[in-house]
Amino acid sequence: MGEKFLIQGRKPLSGEIKVKGAKNAALKVFIASLLTDKEWQIYNVPEIKDIFQEIEILKDLGLKIEKEKKGVYKVRAKEIKKTELDSSLSQKIRASIMITGPLLARFGEAKLSYPGGCLIGKRPIDLFLEGLAALGAELKGDKNTIHLTTKGLKGNVFVFPQISVTATECLIMAAALAKGKTVLKNAAMEPEVVSLVDFLNSCGAQIKGAGTPNIEIKGVKKLRGGRYFTIPDRIEAGTFAALAAASKSKVKIRDCEPLHLEVFLKILKKIGVELERGRNYILVRQSKALRSVKVVTHEYPGLPTDLQPPLTILLTQAKGLSLIRETVFEGRLFYTDILNQMGADIIMCDPHRIVIQGPSRLYGRRIISPDIRAGISLVIAALIAQGKSTIENIEQIDRGYEKIEQRLQKIGADIKRVKN
Ligand code: UD1
Repeated sequence: MGEKFLIQGRKPLSGEIKVKGAKNAALKVFIASLLTDKEWQIYNVPEIKDIFQEIEILKDLGLKIEKEKKGVYKVRAKEIKKTELDSSLSQKIRASIMITGPLLARFGEAKLSYPGGCLIGKRPIDLFLEGLAALGAELKGDKNTIHLTTKGLKGNVFVFPQISVTATECLIMAAALAKGKTVLKNAAMEPEVVSLVDFLNSCGAQIKGAGTPNIEIKGVKKLRGGRYFTIPDRIEAGTFAALAAASKSKVKIRDCEPLHLEVFLKILKKIGVELERGRNYILVRQSKALRSVKVVTHEYPGLPTDLQPPLTILLTQAKGLSLIRETVFEGRLFYTDILNQMGADIIMCDPHRIVIQGPSRLYGRRIISPDIRAGISLVIAALIAQGKSTIENIEQIDRGYEKIEQRLQKIGADIKRVKN
């Protein structure tokens, strides 16, 4: 069943690797296309499982989605067949909860089963439901189904008790067509939020303040057609930088946006990673001595939780005691058990904190990928480990990283995809 990676570790890596479009930006634009009956063209779309699944969910609702060529899609929600998401499809991808925003705004109804996604914590959806209710949605679901209806969304002030990226984006989409003005306070400031808002504004939306905690949305009647160019995936870029540093290789990471990685790059420098950055590249030079650090994950512009696993792998190679405090998700450090089985020396103080004693030599072994970000990080671990590893459950990695083995092979990695 499925496929797995075979990895022979400790091969020298060098050369250039290109960053694809951001999964967490493209996904939202596909969903936002429900806001208009006009056509949108979406460029630089990564060819990954999460996108394919999102497209299936949207097509099932009746959207016309055509792939023009690699990475370029035409999307049009002129009419839709229904406002209820296919439950087997939507349970596979957590981002499907965001569809409630545009469905309610344009069609007044949204129905879906409780969504799935990464097993990295409880991942509740209360903020979506509270926020949509503030805009005038009525919740009628039961314990398995979310059923929202409205006679027309109305602008309001909504204060997020906790910062959430997708809930912020969902409410922006809902408010874009709501009557009157909405103010979102304590909103997420991630570059993907800003990119979505810039694009919606280019299609006629009236949204101010994206990239700050206060976003003001003046509802409009209609949105126009448009073209969206997906921003580079900052998580992919950061992950490649961690790989280069951990394997002490010289690698140029191309087509990325270093400005979206300021804090992460600063932390790499503190660790002793030698870096050069240009407008759209990061060059990691062969690092000499790597030092331990104390870091805390944080909403943007802080250290992204999605880069915590690759950073942890890097810190197993740094001299001294490192401390990582994961503040965003409560289940995001359990994969460190697998690293210990590979030879790392990591102590979990509590579900939110680990101490890493480095450097450790890692050894290859059989690994089952737990989730998307831990999965790609265990690929890094296997690439720097002595001996062979097999990584199973790689569907989790394919959710977010396009043809990763082929791209890693190009910089010298010994990684093969084989049938189980
Ligand atoms: C998004 C990203 C994901 C990243 C995360 C944090 C997408 C598709 N995914 O996920 O890659 O790891 O941001 O940067 O963009 N929470 C609630 N109630 C809610 C919603 C969230 O309590 O209704 C909590 C979560 O459990 C978590 C925290 O808020 O502890 C932040 O999660 P959130 O920002 O919502 O993550 P996602 O938007 O799901």
